[in-house]
Amino acid sequence: MSLFQQRRIEFINKMQANSMALFPVAHETIRNNDCEYPFRQNSDFHYLTGFSEPDALLMLTNIDGVARVILFNRKKDKSAEIWHGYRLGQEEAPAKLAVDQAYGIDEFETRLESMINGIDALYYPMFQNDALDHTLKTIINKLRASKRKGAIVPNCYFDCLPILHEMRVIKSEREAELLAEAAEISASGHIRAMQACYPGMWEYQLEAEIKHQFALQGTRDVAYNSIVAGGNNACILHYTENNKQLKSGDLVLIDAGAEYQGYAGDITRTFPVNGKFTDHQAQLYQLVLDIQVSAINQVKPGVAMADINKKVVSKLVDGLLALGLLSGDSEALIADESYKDFYMHGIGHYLGLDVHDAGSYGTLDDPRVLEAGMAITIEPGLYVSNDADVDDCWKGIGIRIEDDLLVTEQGAEVLSADVPKTIDEIEALMADAKAHG
Ligand code: GLY
Ligand code: MN
Ligand code: MN
Repeated sequence: MSLFQQRRIEFINKMQANSMALFPVAHETIRNNDCEYPFRQNSDFHYLTGFSEPDALLMLTNIDGVARVILFNRKKDKSAEIWHGYRLGQEEAPAKLAVDQAYGIDEFETRLESMINGIDALYYPMFQNDALDHTLKTIINKLRASKRKGAIVPNCYFDCLPILHEMRVIKSEREAELLAEAAEISASGHIRAMQACYPGMWEYQLEAEIKHQFALQGTRDVAYNSIVAGGNNACILHYTENNKQLKSGDLVLIDAGAEYQGYAGDITRTFPVNGKFTDHQAQLYQLVLDIQVSAINQVKPGVAMADINKKVVSKLVDGLLALGLLSGDSEALIADESYKDFYMHGIGHYLGLDVHDAGSYGTLDDPRVLEAGMAITIEPGLYVSNDADVDDCWKGIGIRIEDDLLVTEQGAEVLSADVPKTIDEIEALMADAKAHG
């Protein structure tokens, strides 16, 4: 049985008796005029089907103790297939995707109307998909109007996503392999960027080196828009313009990850454009690196990411006090969040089919603890922008170091360990690339 089948059964087993669940796909989105953005399947739909076409919908039913899986998808169309590519159609779908039945997506509304009549509970992604919300509103209200003629309308409505997202938090062995592959490809892109970088290069040219390497390693997809940020640009957390020239004496921060078979890599490295850290850059870099390594060493089942972050903040504040970027009492600086001028994001997030993957983190008062099988990032940073109220020698330095981890019974496996991150390793790699240029 495929992983997709197993997941569908797991979900159906969580459904009430006499119920139906609906999972829509992602929409194709116009970029301009008649050109579309590259299509990327909805992660939840992918998790349950592995089916990558647009214009589809998955229906799961649990009626009279019988589980059924029904796919609505595009019909075969010779002309559309000549212009735009292959469509699975309905005939082959049951064998290819192990569904019980496939119908044309154009039949969805009429079939849903009769199939939903008599169902007690409906699961769907609430308020997420305007088209589905609208269809359901129309059909349910039509059924309500037919109650006197014997129509039975669902009386329980559930958001299916929190249930499914909880399933996605713990990765299977196969998912761990795919995440490891995504991290390895991402790592090779970062190594290539370090080797290729030189003063005067444009940020987008460095981005091209990374994407080139991803493609050579077997994927054309990035998990998110790459950040290639020279000097002060690194202090803009989601800088994706990537259109400035890299200057000797600046650092460059690259946050880039490949997507492999739907799974995300998410790595950040920061290195000197000319291959050699200045003293001030090295001091800040070493502080972030020590904190990152210490945070990784704390990762194990039973520990909450929020608690790791508290220790990160405390170490960061001590480091900034020692270097003179902050002054005052460390407890007060933490309490009034002055450190957020330099470190304003969290320590990490779940990683999976989405780069910021699905699943609950608990609450501020009761944060969720890590479990074996979770995949997370650890990514502390320090950002001293040109506007910061500090000595000029620290300005325009943005540093983040981010690795991908799989939580194990004993601790964690670092999936992205291939990319150098100590000062000596980075300088040696860049010097070697120059020498053999
Ligand atoms: N690349 C997005 C992040 O690091 O969270
Ligand atoms: Mn990242
Ligand atoms: Mn991240």
